[in-house]
Amino acid sequence: MKVFNFIVDIQRFVEEKHNLGLKVGFVPTMGALHDGHLSLINRAKKDNDIVVSSVFVNPIQFNNPTDLEKYPRTPERDIEKLEQAGCDAVFMPSVDEMYPEKVEDHYDFGDLERVMEGACRPGHFNGVAIVVRKLFEIVNPDRAYFGEKDFQQLAIIKKMVLNLNMNLEIVPCPIIRENDGLAMSSRNVRLNETERAIAPQIYATLNDAASHKKEMTPAELRQYALDKFATIKEFDVEYVEITDEINLKSIENWNECEHARIFVALQLGPVRLIDNVRIY
Ligand code: PAJ
Repeated sequence: MKVFNFIVDIQRFVEEKHNLGLKVGFVPTMGALHDGHLSLINRAKKDNDIVVSSVFVNPIQFNNPTDLEKYPRTPERDIEKLEQAGCDAVFMPSVDEMYPEKVEDHYDFGDLERVMEGACRPGHFNGVAIVVRKLFEIVNPDRAYFGEKDFQQLAIIKKMVLNLNMNLEIVPCPIIRENDGLAMSSRNVRLNETERAIAPQIYATLNDAASHKKEMTPAELRQYALDKFATIKEFDVEYVEITDEINLKSIENWNECEHARIFVALQLGPVRLIDNVRIY
């Protein structure tokens, strides 16, 4: 696997592949890779001739300086894992390489960015959009892969690609979980033993709530989930929302949309965790 630190080098690599008529799949990450990330690489390998990943902890998408400082960084291990997964090249730029000067772009994703993560993390999605657009322009992939773990991020990226007429396909990938149900996340390593033992209750609670669809309205189901989360004192819930999974608008009736999803963000010890499940 090739490791590139500079924009010109990854650009040249992809250009050569495109000149040979090969399709390039791209998996952007912030590193500290786990099986969730690797599932995206595997999917990209199935769909494309060449797979490129990126590992870049993007400072401008962190609204909390401590979160940025404590974000796990394991570049050597990431390279090993990508290599084992059969990735062809990884782009690992420095902050200066990505941002030689301050980026002032402002994106407006409308209602999509005014709820949930957008409302709780001011500037977060603008920082995500800036880096993902730059990465798309650098790597110029045919397809790019994003996890439903960050469901709102996926919706924002799809909207950006549509609005800017970017010529690539965005491929959503399912959430990969630990055996006990906890959604894999780079931040999980910061949980202590007690917190780690409690963390599977996030998914369990979402599933429990989702199973009550027949007897409850969306508002009742949301309250049910909030009450359940409140019984676990270690959880400090930021939001629980039930939305249409297309436009992420809250719903009042189940028949308002084809598929509803329940979303949660909560603080557990030092870590902020998010998760979501579809309500069938
Ligand atoms: P990061 O959190 O490293 O995630 C990279 C990709 O892996 C995202 O598309 C994310 O949704 C996906 N992912 C993470 N955990 C997953 C899991 N348990 N199951 C399935 N997919 C999972 O998301 C980012 O980085 C950044 O915001 C980025 C898009 C790279 C821009 O900086």
